[in-house]
Amino acid sequence: MQLTVNIADQLKPRPDENNLGFGTLFTDHMFNMDYSPEQGWHNPRIEPYGALELDPATMVLHYGQAVFEGLKAFRTSDGRVQLFRPAENMKRMNRSCDLLCIPHIDEDFTLQALKKLVEIEKQWVPGAPGTSLYIRPTIIATDPYLGVRASHTYRFFIILSPVGAYYAEGFNPVKIMVSHDHVRAVRGGVGEAKTPGNYAASLLAGEKAQQEGYTQVLWLDGVERKYIEEVGSMNIFFVIDGELVTPALNGSILPGITRDAVLTLARSWNMKASERRISIDEVIAAHEKGTLEEIFGSGTAAVISPVGELKYGDKIIAVGDGKVGPVAQRLFDAITDIQYGRVEDTHGWIEAVV
Ligand code: COI
Repeated sequence: MQLTVNIADQLKPRPDENNLGFGTLFTDHMFNMDYSPEQGWHNPRIEPYGALELDPATMVLHYGQAVFEGLKAFRTSDGRVQLFRPAENMKRMNRSCDLLCIPHIDEDFTLQALKKLVEIEKQWVPGAPGTSLYIRPTIIATDPYLGVRASHTYRFFIILSPVGAYYAEGFNPVKIMVSHDHVRAVRGGVGEAKTPGNYAASLLAGEKAQQEGYTQVLWLDGVERKYIEEVGSMNIFFVIDGELVTPALNGSILPGITRDAVLTLARSWNMKASERRISIDEVIAAHEKGTLEEIFGSGTAAVISPVGELKYGDKIIAVGDGKVGPVAQRLFDAITDIQYGRVEDTHGWIEAVV
């Protein structure tokens, strides 16, 4: 396949790097590629960023058949631009495609196209502390058809957004709340896929949490409503009596790439790092015993996000006096040092763009 490039005549003004927020600004160009049964994936192109023209019957609008990814490009202090584990995102996208009946993308080709897009937009990769260029590859079902089946045609696109911290709190601890009335996903469903419906399913509980002053929802398993799953925008970790614990991937939890980096780093530091079932009761009991040392989330957008308060029913738990714990701090420093090229990447996680 030959990638074509069409550069925009007019470029947008650059935003103030110190005030980026998350996901509101988009760069000058995007990548597009189409799928049909006859041609497979075809017509890969980088072109000016612009609206998609969709028939109102387009299947993704009705049945949500879509997958997406999230990764970031970082600017190093000497001006290079680099990606963190991008091949893992391409792999995960294909695993999500399997669950949503979407044809696979060519991971190598797509990663090369993504790198070319970032290279063209390199001036958009911000350099202010804590900023990056968020990359959102997405595939949507495009048949104009109202019957329920997998679409025959698809559009793949990649858009880029210069971002600061995902949470308004930045690296300060967030408050999360356990939802009892709602569940995000069940085993056997699509909880481990990065698909829009999982996020739609989280909105009502998220709004209820916000009304109570909590940033995010901590989801329990959909069957017993007992075991901890994830936060929705991030995976979750606990430090209990020196053991780092995160829920095992059981089919309804997103297999986070930052989650994997956390486990790899912790094990390389000889910390006990377990992927296992962990119930909300165990967390509450650890708090009561005084062995709950830290809670934090991990994600591409959130990086490492300390949790300062957890609400479960009428119990409110203050974690680590509302301060950032040492494990969260060490992981945040280690991951961002690698991402921004401040230390040698001994794990092979970095891919240079320019
Ligand atoms: C990410 O961390 O990249 C995510 O996709 C989480 C959220 C922004 C949807």
